Amino acid sequence: MNNVRQYLKAGDIVQADIITHNPHATLLLRKGTTVTDHLLDSLENFDYDFERMNIVVNRNGSIVANKAKEPVKETPPEPEKKDPTAVSFSEKLKNDAVLAAKQLFAEGASTKEISSTSAELSQDISNTVLSAGVNANICIQDLRVTDEYTYQHSVDVGVLAAQLAKRLGWNRERISMAAQSGILHDIGKKHVPLEILNKPGRLTDDEFAIMKLHPVYAYKELSGIREMANEIKLGAFEHHEKINGKGYPRGLSGNQISEIAQILAIADVYDALTSKRAYKDGMSSARAVGIMSEMMDGFNTKFFTVFLNCITLYPIVSHVICTDGLSYRVDRHTPGYPSRPVIFNEFTGRRIDLSENREISIFGEDCEEIREKFNLRK
Ligand SMILES: [Fe+2]
Repeated sequence: MNNVRQYLKAGDIVQADIITHNPHATLLLRKGTTVTDHLLDSLENFDYDFERMNIVVNRNGSIVANKAKEPVKETPPEPEKKDPTAVSFSEKLKNDAVLAAKQLFAEGASTKEISSTSAELSQDISNTVLSAGVNANICIQDLRVTDEYTYQHSVDVGVLAAQLAKRLGWNRERISMAAQSGILHDIGKKHVPLEILNKPGRLTDDEFAIMKLHPVYAYKELSGIREMANEIKLGAFEHHEKINGKGYPRGLSGNQISEIAQILAIADVYDALTSKRAYKDGMSSARAVGIMSEMMDGFNTKFFTVFLNCITLYPIVSHVICTDGLSYRVDRHTPGYPSRPVIFNEFTGRRIDLSENREISIFGEDCEEIREKFNLRK
């Protein structure tokens, strides 16, 4: 039997969530609950010390608080500013990369310029990706320096492609080719009218038919570059093909699609979903991955599985819901544990290193949809 009856009486109306910290943060009673004798009987069966909890109730019209000591509250730590487990791209490289992408997409860029600019940029990207630790991930949100989608998207896909190629164990030359193909994959969009390219709503069938030509335009443009490896060109030509044969422009399937294109297909969709556009917010990484999991038959399954370990699912200072029903801020990542970061509950003051604590797991990002689905109150 514990001391619950010293602090709660039948008829009390709970004014703030009552949470115990022992052995870990658990929500005992929600705000608004009316305490009953039956509830008190149940709570007496646990080894909880109610003196250590913040209890505020409305008792017969008066607010009564237990003036809890707060011995278990840790000093609120500051989240890390930068994620040391993420591949670190210098501000210069990020800005130079976007400028280079602009040059590639400029009207009248010569094939020579396209070849040399994209080759240089892909070298810089692959060098950075390769010099990072084996467990380093890409935090796509940290990479972005502009809202100009076409340019940023080209850089993002180049970086993600290099990272996935590295994790697949490809050699330096092929990693660089994957990056270059990623940078150039949408270059054919230069020839798609802007009103179709930037249309916020759904494209008509005719508009979509024109849009679907951009991989063909890209291949045409790149095929004039003799010194460029054919795999780089095929990446651009086939990045909308799907393993299940339902892609375009040729409806290729399985191994008919070049490996670089199979990489780009994953990087392209992930980046498009997580990017902010004039007509939509960018999705969180976790949500994008959830949606992509439902499109699995279009992707190379092995590549997709490896990709999940290439990216930061829960960026630092994002909020997640855990299996204990509480919301936590992501404070730090532990190398090798991308889905088990160090998390912090701002209400209870509890900090948990999920790489060590296996009793709690992340359920998903803290968003309205998850809260509604599992009936969790904000
Ligand atoms: Fe595309």
